[in-house]
Amino acid sequence: MMNADKISSVACVGGGTIGFSWAALFAQHGLRVTIYEPSAAVLNRTDAELRSAYDTLVAADVMTETEAAAALARVSATTDLAEAVAAADFVQESGPERYGVKREIYRELDRLARPDVVLASSTSAMLMTEIQAATSRPERCVVAHPYNPPHIVPCVEIVPGEATSEETVELARDFMARMGRTPVVARKECRGHIVNHMQAALYREAMWLVGNGVATAAEIDLAFRSGPGLRLALMGPFLVGMLTSPGGLRDTLVDRKLDHSLVDDIPARLERDAPPRTAETKREWAKLCAEQMEAALADTDMEAVKQWRDAKLLQILDVLRSGQTTAQ
Ligand SMILES: NC(=O)c1ccc[n+]([C@@H]2O[C@H](COP(=O)([O-])OP(=O)(O)OC[C@H]3O[C@@H](n4cnc5c(N)ncnc54)[C@H](O)[C@@H]3O)[C@@H](O)[C@H]2O)c1
Repeated sequence: MMNADKISSVACVGGGTIGFSWAALFAQHGLRVTIYEPSAAVLNRTDAELRSAYDTLVAADVMTETEAAAALARVSATTDLAEAVAAADFVQESGPERYGVKREIYRELDRLARPDVVLASSTSAMLMTEIQAATSRPERCVVAHPYNPPHIVPCVEIVPGEATSEETVELARDFMARMGRTPVVARKECRGHIVNHMQAALYREAMWLVGNGVATAAEIDLAFRSGPGLRLALMGPFLVGMLTSPGGLRDTLVDRKLDHSLVDDIPARLERDAPPRTAETKREWAKLCAEQMEAALADTDMEAVKQWRDAKLLQILDVLRSGQTTAQ
């Protein structure tokens, strides 16, 4: 099997939001990258997407213009999967999030990629056990799930399927560390891995609040970003809890001194009368959230928001890198 230090070329299978961002990251770190993208319309965006990613990194002094130009020259794109994976030392798949499609992609990758190569998937929530069975090398298949955009956000969750070898997990972890990421290896697979599993709970309750008229989607965003979002940029929920009261997490979670109003038996009238969480009510609430956000952002240039997000994320990372405590 490949050694993480020896990987010098990567195939990014699937362009799109995540595939382009992975490509920017790998090329920034000196690797040759070939993007496979079946849609010619998406493929044609390759240069513009990478240029935009590097413009942000150059503006933030993460790389120089000369380095950006050299990185751009290391990336090529094709609609031919065989051509994309032929020379690749590592494959990062970022195709559509559907089991049927992922299995089909993995079947093809198994046929076309070198037998020693690891096939990593960006899947946000799927189980590798359900995908790797489509290949003759299930032990070399693993989830390597990034956070958007992977060329900026460090976390990559490495999640083995039931047939994934320890060697593959180690290679994926070491490779992502070499790419300047923060790999977090999950000990067991689970829908949504670690963070999206938790994020699903957050969305579930946010949609309940909007659906039951407690706040609008924009009001929830405002409360979140001016409150807990600030702490969560610094700390995970458990360290937040350690600082919440003198008794730390024990007070908060075990003795429930602070969240009694959430667990004791005095729900607001709204909670007593709210409709049950059926598939239908959940879909209605989700639609309402989407409609509210679309209306609130109708006149907003979302491309400009994306660039603002990336520039601010880089500033936050800069602040976090200076003066870390032993707790982090
Ligand atoms: N968007 C996110 O925030 C995010 C974050 C982390 C992980 N992911 C995961 O990354 C993957 C891609 O998500 P995305 O948001 O980039 O989607 P996207 O729709 O932007 O990109 C997917 C791309 O795959 C291409 N494609 C279609 N069929 C294909 C095939 N058979 N083989 C290869 N490519 C094919 C599409 O043309 C499209 O360009 C998904 O598994 C998703 O769960 C997404």
